[in-house]
Amino acid sequence: MKIIHISAECYPIAKVGGLADVVGALPKYQNRIGHQATVLMPYYETAYVKKATAVVDFCYNLVMDQKTYFAEVLSVNDASLGFPLFLVRIAELTDRKEVYGYEDDALRFVAFQRVALQWIMSKDAMPDVVHCHDHHTGLVPFMMSRSEPFETLKDIPTVLSIHNAQYQGQFSHEMGGVLPRFRESDLGLLDWDGMINPLAAAIKCAWRVNTVSPSYMEELKQKANGLEWLLNHESDKCVGILNGIDAETWDPATDTYLHKNYTIRTRQSGRKTNKEALCEEFGLDSSKPLFGFIGRLVWEKGADILPAIIDKALQDYDINIILLGSGSPEVESQLKTLAIKYKGRYNAYIGYQERMSHQVYAGADFLLMPSRVEPCGLNQMYSLRYGCMPIVRRTGGLKDTVIDLGEKGGFGICHDHTSEEDVVYSIGRAVTHFENQKKFKEIQKTMMHLEHSWENSAQMYVSLYNQLK
Ligand code: ADP
Ligand code: GLC
Repeated sequence: MKIIHISAECYPIAKVGGLADVVGALPKYQNRIGHQATVLMPYYETAYVKKATAVVDFCYNLVMDQKTYFAEVLSVNDASLGFPLFLVRIAELTDRKEVYGYEDDALRFVAFQRVALQWIMSKDAMPDVVHCHDHHTGLVPFMMSRSEPFETLKDIPTVLSIHNAQYQGQFSHEMGGVLPRFRESDLGLLDWDGMINPLAAAIKCAWRVNTVSPSYMEELKQKANGLEWLLNHESDKCVGILNGIDAETWDPATDTYLHKNYTIRTRQSGRKTNKEALCEEFGLDSSKPLFGFIGRLVWEKGADILPAIIDKALQDYDINIILLGSGSPEVESQLKTLAIKYKGRYNAYIGYQERMSHQVYAGADFLLMPSRVEPCGLNQMYSLRYGCMPIVRRTGGLKDTVIDLGEKGGFGICHDHTSEEDVVYSIGRAVTHFENQKKFKEIQKTMMHLEHSWENSAQMYVSLYNQLK
């Protein structure tokens, strides 16, 4: 089956969060089971792109709102990715250092989607399915079925994966001139609450819609930033498919970022070395239970309550905490201030660093994920594979992947609310469990044995596409 993934992010080309990890792994696993999956994404000025060797595959003059932009699609030569990669480069609109956060993001992503479809149309062989990820590619199903010249693609099935419904990409109808031509009677397919809403348009127009965990789909039907009614209305074509992890990139036995590689059998000495190195780098004490947090410092992740949690937990328990993240300037500043107050017991790296994230999974004893919203969450799955016990709020994908120690077969710690009380209470439970080292190490073994590789989920997506033939 010929599958084209269209996405704003893809690891290792450009990563902001888990979307990149998914799009960098799912196609590879689909190819392994005999399909031909390709990734199409915007061109950014990232370290990967600067070093990549690429050839021009397609050129196009995009006329958008009476302005002409020169665009080209580059074919990247990198067999190690496990899938063919194409980058859409558009004069004035791509060639930026960051993936998101520019004032003209709406324009940039509309342009990207239009050139992506022109590129697909230029080929002799058509794909069997076009798989879109999040709102940045949400106009693709509408364009393919309702706009000129893309209607010729209308018989190709489209799938939308919702990785995060908090962001919907809305823009004003006044900007509608940037879209390709379509019938006025179809305007309602684009509109949600008086705005052009790419995520809503994709839910309406895609042949199938999935969230990245079953629980998140159920939650969205209750509350989806205004889209809950729409998801209930379209529920026949909606399903939840749990993400997997790239079990090769995330393997403590071969991970080149680690100070020492380890397997389930050698986990004790391996994790000890990694913990000591991590504590040394951050000025912490490796003899104490070490709690970590990795992530975007935003409301959905519960970042606003982290400073209070850290403060209280360090007063109540003899533990150490390490934090890796960036986001809200206010939270960043509170987290930095706490590092002065608790020097030697808590430290933070404010920023993004791939290397360090791997080292935290390998060196910390527990990983905190007090998320308010977690469509799937990959951190807890990486953490389990590395033998670091996740402490999660029961929501979305966290609920679907972590079983509390108090339940049969449990291997993690779960709480119900994103609140200081719940998290600090859970930290207390963790400390008690940590005291029984013999049992704790047995549970580490259970965690590391869990199977979260993409193999199963890649097959589930293929079954979904097959329903559309
Ligand atoms: P989300 O996509 O909502 O941010 P996920 O759990 O799906 O959450 O994925 C987060 C990914 O980003 C993981 O690979 C995690 O290790 C990584 N990550 C998040 N913040 C950082 C950071 N500051 N430095 C390095 N890696 C990070
Ligand atoms: C989003 C979600 C996260 C999910 C990731 C990959 O960024 O916030 O929970 O794991 O997408 O699907």
